[in-house]
Amino acid sequence: MESIWSGICDIPKRPALQGHQQTQVAVIGAGLAGILTAYLLEQAGKQVIVLEADRIASGQSQNTTAKITAQHGLIYANLISKQGMEMARAYAQANLQAIEQYDQLITEKRIACDFQRRDSYVFSQNKQELQAEVQAAQKLGLPAEFTGDIPIPIPAAGAVRFSNQAQFHPLKFIAALADGLTVYEHSAVRSMDGTVLYTDDGSVEAQQAVFACHYPFLNWPGLYFTRMHQERSYVLALKGAPQVDGMYLGVGSNAYSLRNWEDLLLFGGENHRTGENQEGGRYRALREKAQELFPGSREVAHWSAQDCMTADHIPFIGQYAPARPDWYVATGFEKWGMTSSMVAAQILCARICGEETPYDFVFSPSRFSLEELSGIAGEGVQAVKGLTKTLFEIPEETIAELKAGHGGIVTVGEEKIGVYKSENGICFGVKTRCPHLGCQLEWNPDERSWDCPCHGSRFDYRGILICGPAQENLPLLWERKAPEV
Ligand code: FES
Repeated sequence: MESIWSGICDIPKRPALQGHQQTQVAVIGAGLAGILTAYLLEQAGKQVIVLEADRIASGQSQNTTAKITAQHGLIYANLISKQGMEMARAYAQANLQAIEQYDQLITEKRIACDFQRRDSYVFSQNKQELQAEVQAAQKLGLPAEFTGDIPIPIPAAGAVRFSNQAQFHPLKFIAALADGLTVYEHSAVRSMDGTVLYTDDGSVEAQQAVFACHYPFLNWPGLYFTRMHQERSYVLALKGAPQVDGMYLGVGSNAYSLRNWEDLLLFGGENHRTGENQEGGRYRALREKAQELFPGSREVAHWSAQDCMTADHIPFIGQYAPARPDWYVATGFEKWGMTSSMVAAQILCARICGEETPYDFVFSPSRFSLEELSGIAGEGVQAVKGLTKTLFEIPEETIAELKAGHGGIVTVGEEKIGVYKSENGICFGVKTRCPHLGCQLEWNPDERSWDCPCHGSRFDYRGILICGPAQENLPLLWERKAPEV
């Protein structure tokens, strides 16, 4: 199901790239980060072409709760102790500045995108950790204070409030910015030779290239697949639920997200690493919680998000890799894609124009922290698990007994085949080895997809690629009527 944002915002279609073009900067990805970066570059006098694999804002930019805030969970006490005051302060200021830049841009361009200033809250049942976070945030100049009183029906010892943050309608904003930009849709970049980018029917020769495509799809250089994993989360739009007057996020056992949009409450949660699926379903758990907290409310939409997570919880924004000084990247936004997109656009625009920002060192992809080294080890362990895991495995003869609307892995000789049975009894068999780096895919019962636990690529039940870093579909081995039981 599509999110409320995409349901009410139609962005005009663009053609696919045909033939050869030249430009100063090629941006890969027409999500919020790509469009913002392209817009700022054009404002700075650069000629830009944006190449999008699908449609403008068809990826994670439409699957969000659209909060713009420097409050990213309870991070600042930890950031100070792990990264030091200077880095924590620069991270905080970069994100605070991003809110002001949205405000300024939206005001100047008169963009009708439901931009509203709202306070942001992180609630917890642990009062001590909330108070430590308030102290840390205040030291960094953030507008933080403790409050013991929040108007939501979830048990908490209180919350950290950041005043004057913001929320908006992301697709209305993107549509307005994309209006004057050169964007080619259905133009996936298949390969690169330096800064020449090749799509199925054309090529773009640029002086610089920006990867703003959620997860960098080239394994080398950069090795981003060793440095990030992906996580999924789920959102319900509820009618008949209360106005909560702010943006909320829980930590610990009540890790739920809440904000209003018009008369709806956007209620999110059930985070998990991509590929770690469970029988019973995440949506069902979230719906049960919604009915417990907001009895009588009615769901009018639901959607899911996928986020790239880094080991030190700081995005990678800057030069892609030392071996490629003319490539730039923006990825690893964790759950804060709206704010991080603006931070990324500012940094990348400055770098491409030969300037620096006070925040470059915080987000530099060439940093390697101790957390990251242990994170890389963790990603490696997960990748090995992904190569061997056989969760939901079912014997060959049970294909016939597979319930309609369900999927599973069938072992045929030495080979594992992913089988999905549609509601009308058609079975689809796909290879379940991920074309990215070969991990074993897992069936996702919530979204009827094959998900990779290693780096988060996803494929529909026919094997069609939903999102990377993989770049190819899974081979569809067969499609046939299920045998009678
Ligand atoms: Fe990397 Fe699947 S996404 S192996």
